[in-house]
Amino acid sequence: MRRFLPFAFALVACTSPEDPGQRTLVRPDDEGPKPSDSFVATCARCHGPRGEGTTGVYPAIPGALDEATFIATVRSGKGRAMPAFSPEQVPDDHLKNDYAWLKTLRAR
Ligand code: HEC
Repeated sequence: MRRFLPFAFALVACTSPEDPGQRTLVRPDDEGPKPSDSFVATCARCHGPRGEGTTGVYPAIPGALDEATFIATVRSGKGRAMPAFSPEQVPDDHLKNDYAWLKTLRAR
């Protein structure tokens, strides 16, 4: 019994609900940029799990925006349907991560 305990702990760690992005969006062996927890929890429900958007409703992101404009857009919101998010809600380093990640997706 003893020797199975570490395995049981590892299973619990892998299925932690704190880490939905790693589990649902990225294979464990997939190296490279990944979505932040903020993206998964906050952005994906409108822009899609890979930021692909929905034609005519939600734009694909980051589009042609540079990183600074991408972040500024999230801070200010846009139009009637894009809410503003504070750094407390979505930290800068998450947005920088997500910008880099989205760029790699759009470049494919
Ligand atoms: C409630 C739905 C919703 C959520 C949540 C949301 N967005 Fe948006 N977003 C929109 C809509 C709708 C637009 C288009 C606004 C317009 O142009 O009028 C938009 C526009 C944008 C744009 C501008 C795109 C461009 O090319 O001008 C960026 C960047 C963006 N969103 C990033 C994000 C990020 C990052 C998050 C998560 C922190 C997020 N959005 C969360 C609905 C949403």
